[in-house]
Amino acid sequence: MTQPMRLRGVRHHLADRLFHWGMALTVIILAATAFLPVVGIRFDWVPLHWTAGVALLLLVLFHLVRVFSTHGAREMVPRADDVREIGQVMRGGTTHSLSGAKYDAFQKGFHLAAALTVLALLATGLPMLAKIDTRFWRRDPSILSDTTWGMIYVMHGAAAMVLLFLVILHVYFAVLPEHRKFLTAMIFGVGPEKARKGNP
Ligand code: HEM
Ligand code: HEM
Repeated sequence: MTQPMRLRGVRHHLADRLFHWGMALTVIILAATAFLPVVGIRFDWVPLHWTAGVALLLLVLFHLVRVFSTHGAREMVPRADDVREIGQVMRGGTTHSLSGAKYDAFQKGFHLAAALTVLALLATGLPMLAKIDTRFWRRDPSILSDTTWGMIYVMHGAAAMVLLFLVILHVYFAVLPEHRKFLTAMIFGVGPEKARKGNP
Protein backbone atom coordinates (compact mmCIF):
# COMPACT_ATOMS: atom_id res chain seq x y z
CA MET A 1 0.00 0.00 0.00
CA THR A 2 1.41 3.42 -0.84
CA GLN A 3 1.95 5.82 2.06
CA PRO A 4 0.89 9.48 1.64
CA MET A 5 3.89 11.67 0.75
CA ARG A 6 5.37 13.36 3.81
CA LEU A 7 8.30 15.75 3.75
CA ARG A 8 10.58 14.85 6.68
CA GLY A 9 11.35 17.66 9.09
CA VAL A 10 8.86 20.12 7.57
CA ARG A 11 6.98 21.74 10.48
CA HIS A 12 5.07 24.38 8.50
CA HIS A 13 4.34 23.98 4.77
CA LEU A 14 4.86 26.98 2.46
CA ALA A 15 1.09 27.66 2.18
CA ASP A 16 0.77 27.78 6.00
CA ARG A 17 3.84 30.03 6.37
CA LEU A 18 2.48 32.41 3.73
CA PHE A 19 -0.81 32.44 5.67
CA HIS A 20 0.97 33.16 9.00
CA TRP A 21 3.09 36.04 7.69
CA GLY A 22 0.28 37.48 5.52
CA MET A 23 -2.05 37.35 8.52
CA ALA A 24 0.63 38.90 10.77
CA LEU A 25 1.17 41.74 8.26
CA THR A 26 -2.56 42.50 7.97
CA VAL A 27 -2.97 42.38 11.79
CA ILE A 28 -0.05 44.82 12.21
CA ILE A 29 -1.50 47.19 9.56
CA LEU A 30 -4.92 46.95 11.25
CA ALA A 31 -3.45 47.69 14.69
CA ALA A 32 -1.29 50.58 13.41
CA THR A 33 -4.16 52.22 11.51
CA ALA A 34 -6.46 51.78 14.54
CA PHE A 35 -4.15 52.93 17.33
CA LEU A 36 -1.75 55.51 15.78
CA PRO A 37 -4.54 58.13 15.33
CA VAL A 38 -5.50 57.54 19.00
CA VAL A 39 -2.00 58.57 20.12
CA GLY A 40 -2.12 61.74 18.00
CA ILE A 41 -0.58 60.58 14.68
CA ARG A 42 -3.31 61.73 12.30
CA PHE A 43 -3.73 60.40 8.75
CA ASP A 44 -6.46 59.03 6.47
CA TRP A 45 -6.50 55.63 8.17
CA VAL A 46 -9.93 54.26 7.14
CA PRO A 47 -9.16 53.04 3.57
CA LEU A 48 -6.02 51.15 4.67
CA HIS A 49 -7.85 49.74 7.71
CA TRP A 50 -10.82 48.29 5.86
CA THR A 51 -8.80 46.88 2.94
CA ALA A 52 -6.44 45.14 5.41
CA GLY A 53 -9.53 43.78 7.21
CA VAL A 54 -10.96 42.34 3.99
CA ALA A 55 -7.52 40.83 3.19
CA LEU A 56 -7.45 39.25 6.69
CA LEU A 57 -10.91 37.75 6.08
CA LEU A 58 -9.69 36.16 2.82
CA LEU A 59 -6.56 34.82 4.57
CA VAL A 60 -8.61 33.28 7.40
CA LEU A 61 -10.93 31.63 4.86
CA PHE A 62 -7.83 30.23 3.10
CA HIS A 63 -6.57 28.92 6.47
CA LEU A 64 -9.90 27.19 7.20
CA VAL A 65 -9.81 25.50 3.78
CA ARG A 66 -6.22 24.29 4.49
CA VAL A 67 -7.22 23.05 7.97
CA PHE A 68 -10.27 21.10 6.87
CA SER A 69 -8.89 19.82 3.53
CA THR A 70 -5.28 19.04 4.52
CA HIS A 71 -4.39 19.20 8.23
CA GLY A 72 -7.55 18.26 10.12
CA ALA A 73 -8.20 20.08 13.41
CA ARG A 74 -6.60 17.34 15.62
CA GLU A 75 -3.23 19.02 16.34
CA MET A 76 -4.74 22.28 17.62
CA VAL A 77 -7.59 20.98 19.82
CA PRO A 78 -6.86 21.24 23.59
CA ARG A 79 -7.07 17.85 25.40
CA ALA A 80 -6.69 16.41 28.90
CA ASP A 81 -2.87 16.18 28.53
CA ASP A 82 -2.75 19.94 27.83
CA VAL A 83 -4.44 20.67 31.14
CA ARG A 84 -1.96 18.30 32.87
CA GLU A 85 0.92 20.04 31.07
CA ILE A 86 -0.06 23.47 32.43
CA GLY A 87 -0.19 21.98 35.96
CA GLN A 88 3.21 20.31 35.59
CA VAL A 89 4.90 23.39 34.10
CA MET A 90 3.52 25.56 36.93
CA ARG A 91 4.97 23.12 39.48
CA GLY A 92 8.31 23.29 37.63
CA GLY A 93 8.15 19.61 36.56
CA THR A 94 8.91 17.84 33.25
CA THR A 95 6.31 16.79 30.66
CA HIS A 96 7.84 13.38 29.84
CA SER A 97 4.83 11.44 31.14
CA LEU A 98 2.48 13.21 28.69
CA SER A 99 1.71 12.43 25.05
CA GLY A 100 3.96 14.12 22.47
CA ALA A 101 2.24 16.92 20.51
CA LYS A 102 3.02 19.23 17.57
CA TYR A 103 1.72 22.22 19.61
CA ASP A 104 2.07 22.47 23.40
CA ALA A 105 -0.72 23.56 25.74
CA PHE A 106 0.33 27.22 25.67
CA GLN A 107 0.42 27.38 21.86
CA LYS A 108 -3.03 25.74 21.67
CA GLY A 109 -4.34 28.19 24.25
CA PHE A 110 -2.87 31.11 22.32
CA HIS A 111 -4.30 29.84 19.03
CA LEU A 112 -7.77 29.47 20.57
CA ALA A 113 -7.67 32.96 22.10
CA ALA A 114 -6.23 34.60 18.94
CA ALA A 115 -8.66 32.76 16.63
CA LEU A 116 -11.73 33.71 18.70
CA THR A 117 -10.56 37.33 18.95
CA VAL A 118 -9.83 37.62 15.22
CA LEU A 119 -13.20 36.03 14.37
CA ALA A 120 -14.95 38.51 16.72
CA LEU A 121 -13.09 41.40 15.03
CA LEU A 122 -14.07 40.18 11.56
CA ALA A 123 -17.72 39.59 12.57
CA THR A 124 -18.02 43.12 14.00
CA GLY A 125 -15.80 44.79 11.37
CA LEU A 126 -17.74 43.48 8.36
CA PRO A 127 -21.04 45.28 9.13
CA MET A 128 -19.02 48.48 9.76
CA LEU A 129 -18.25 48.51 6.01
CA ALA A 130 -21.83 49.78 5.57
CA LYS A 131 -20.79 52.95 7.45
CA ILE A 132 -18.30 54.16 4.86
CA ASP A 133 -18.38 55.45 1.30
CA THR A 134 -16.05 53.66 -1.09
CA ARG A 135 -15.88 53.57 -4.84
CA PHE A 136 -17.66 50.17 -4.69
CA TRP A 137 -20.67 51.07 -2.51
CA ARG A 138 -22.46 54.02 -0.77
CA ARG A 139 -22.74 54.31 3.01
CA ASP A 140 -26.00 53.16 4.57
CA PRO A 141 -25.99 53.14 8.40
CA SER A 142 -29.77 52.57 8.40
CA ILE A 143 -29.26 48.79 8.03
CA LEU A 144 -28.92 48.57 11.86
CA SER A 145 -30.33 50.48 14.84
CA ASP A 146 -28.19 52.89 16.90
CA THR A 147 -28.19 50.46 19.84
CA THR A 148 -26.92 47.60 17.67
CA TRP A 149 -24.22 49.84 16.17
CA GLY A 150 -23.19 50.82 19.71
CA MET A 151 -22.77 47.18 20.73
CA ILE A 152 -20.81 46.40 17.56
CA TYR A 153 -18.40 49.31 18.17
CA VAL A 154 -17.80 48.36 21.82
CA MET A 155 -17.13 44.69 20.92
CA HIS A 156 -14.82 45.69 18.04
CA GLY A 157 -12.81 48.04 20.27
CA ALA A 158 -12.59 45.59 23.19
CA ALA A 159 -11.51 42.71 20.90
CA ALA A 160 -8.88 44.99 19.29
CA MET A 161 -7.29 45.66 22.69
CA VAL A 162 -7.34 41.93 23.57
CA LEU A 163 -5.63 41.12 20.25
CA LEU A 164 -2.99 43.81 20.82
CA PHE A 165 -2.15 42.20 24.18
CA LEU A 166 -2.09 38.67 22.65
CA VAL A 167 0.20 39.75 19.79
CA ILE A 168 2.69 41.45 22.15
CA LEU A 169 2.79 38.25 24.28
CA HIS A 170 3.17 36.04 21.17
CA VAL A 171 6.00 38.08 19.64
CA TYR A 172 7.82 38.22 23.02
CA PHE A 173 7.82 34.41 23.27
CA ALA A 174 8.57 33.96 19.54
CA VAL A 175 11.86 35.91 19.73
CA LEU A 176 13.25 34.23 22.91
CA PRO A 177 16.55 32.44 22.10
CA GLU A 178 15.24 29.09 23.44
CA HIS A 179 12.38 29.23 20.88
CA ARG A 180 14.68 29.94 17.90
CA LYS A 181 13.94 26.53 16.28
CA PHE A 182 10.27 27.50 16.03
CA LEU A 183 11.03 30.92 14.57
CA THR A 184 13.23 29.39 11.85
CA ALA A 185 10.49 26.76 11.28
CA MET A 186 7.95 29.52 10.61
CA ILE A 187 10.41 31.22 8.20
CA PHE A 188 12.01 28.28 6.36
CA GLY A 189 9.58 25.42 7.12
CA VAL A 190 12.04 22.92 8.60
CA GLY A 191 11.91 22.42 12.36
CA PRO A 192 11.06 20.10 15.27
CA GLU A 193 8.09 17.80 14.70
CA LYS A 194 6.88 18.21 18.29
CA ALA A 195 6.80 21.24 20.59
CA ARG A 196 5.88 18.99 23.53
CA LYS A 197 8.29 16.07 23.52
CA GLY A 198 6.50 13.66 25.88
CA ASN A 199 5.97 10.00 25.01
CA PRO A 200 5.47 9.49 21.26
C1 HEM B 1 -12.40 28.20 13.71
C2 HEM B 1 -11.30 28.68 13.24
C3 HEM B 1 -9.97 27.98 13.19
C4 HEM B 1 -9.64 26.65 13.21
C5 HEM B 1 -10.58 25.45 13.31
C6 HEM B 1 -8.19 26.55 13.15
C7 HEM B 1 -7.47 25.39 13.17
C8 HEM B 1 -6.09 25.27 13.10
C9 HEM B 1 -5.34 24.04 13.12
C10 HEM B 1 -5.96 22.65 13.22
C11 HEM B 1 -4.03 24.33 13.01
C12 HEM B 1 -2.86 23.35 13.01
C13 HEM B 1 -2.50 22.87 11.64
C14 HEM B 1 -1.42 21.82 11.78
O1 HEM B 1 -0.26 22.20 11.93
O2 HEM B 1 -1.76 20.62 11.78
C15 HEM B 1 -3.92 25.77 12.93
C16 HEM B 1 -2.73 26.47 12.81
C17 HEM B 1 -2.64 27.84 12.79
N1 HEM B 1 -3.70 28.75 12.90
FE1 HEM B 1 -5.67 28.27 13.01
N2 HEM B 1 -7.66 27.81 13.07
C18 HEM B 1 -8.72 28.70 13.10
C19 HEM B 1 -8.66 30.08 13.05
C20 HEM B 1 -7.46 30.80 13.02
C21 HEM B 1 -7.40 32.25 13.00
C22 HEM B 1 -8.60 33.22 13.00
C23 HEM B 1 -6.08 32.56 12.97
C24 HEM B 1 -5.50 33.95 12.95
C25 HEM B 1 -5.06 34.47 14.03
C26 HEM B 1 -5.31 31.31 12.96
C27 HEM B 1 -3.92 31.21 12.93
C28 HEM B 1 -3.19 30.02 12.82
C29 HEM B 1 -1.75 29.94 12.63
C30 HEM B 1 -0.80 31.13 12.44
C31 HEM B 1 -1.41 28.58 12.62
C32 HEM B 1 -0.02 27.99 12.43
C33 HEM B 1 0.29 27.83 10.96
C34 HEM B 1 0.21 26.40 10.49
O3 HEM B 1 1.21 25.69 10.53
O4 HEM B 1 -0.88 25.97 10.02
N3 HEM B 1 -6.19 30.27 13.00
N4 HEM B 1 -5.18 26.31 12.98
C1 HEM C 1 5.34 39.69 13.48
C2 HEM C 1 5.63 39.02 14.51
C3 HEM C 1 5.36 37.54 14.67
C4 HEM C 1 6.31 36.58 14.89
C5 HEM C 1 7.82 36.79 15.03
C6 HEM C 1 5.61 35.31 15.00
C7 HEM C 1 6.20 34.08 15.19
C8 HEM C 1 5.57 32.85 15.21
C9 HEM C 1 6.24 31.58 15.26
C10 HEM C 1 7.74 31.40 15.33
C11 HEM C 1 5.29 30.60 15.25
C12 HEM C 1 5.53 29.10 15.18
C13 HEM C 1 5.51 28.36 16.46
C14 HEM C 1 5.64 26.89 16.16
O1 HEM C 1 6.31 26.45 15.21
O2 HEM C 1 5.07 26.12 16.94
C15 HEM C 1 3.99 31.25 15.20
C16 HEM C 1 2.77 30.62 15.22
C17 HEM C 1 1.56 31.26 15.35
N1 HEM C 1 1.35 32.62 15.19
FE1 HEM C 1 2.79 34.04 15.02
N2 HEM C 1 4.25 35.51 14.86
C18 HEM C 1 4.05 36.86 14.65
C19 HEM C 1 2.82 37.48 14.47
C20 HEM C 1 1.60 36.87 14.67
C21 HEM C 1 0.32 37.56 14.68
C22 HEM C 1 0.13 39.07 14.46
C23 HEM C 1 -0.63 36.61 14.94
C24 HEM C 1 -2.12 36.78 15.01
C25 HEM C 1 -2.74 37.39 15.90
C26 HEM C 1 0.03 35.32 15.07
C27 HEM C 1 -0.61 34.12 15.32
C28 HEM C 1 0.01 32.88 15.40
C29 HEM C 1 -0.69 31.63 15.70
C30 HEM C 1 -2.19 31.50 16.01
C31 HEM C 1 0.28 30.62 15.66
C32 HEM C 1 0.05 29.12 15.91
C33 HEM C 1 0.09 28.79 17.38
C34 HEM C 1 1.50 28.82 17.94
O3 HEM C 1 2.37 28.15 17.38
O4 HEM C 1 1.71 29.54 18.95
N3 HEM C 1 1.39 35.51 14.88
N4 HEM C 1 4.20 32.62 15.19
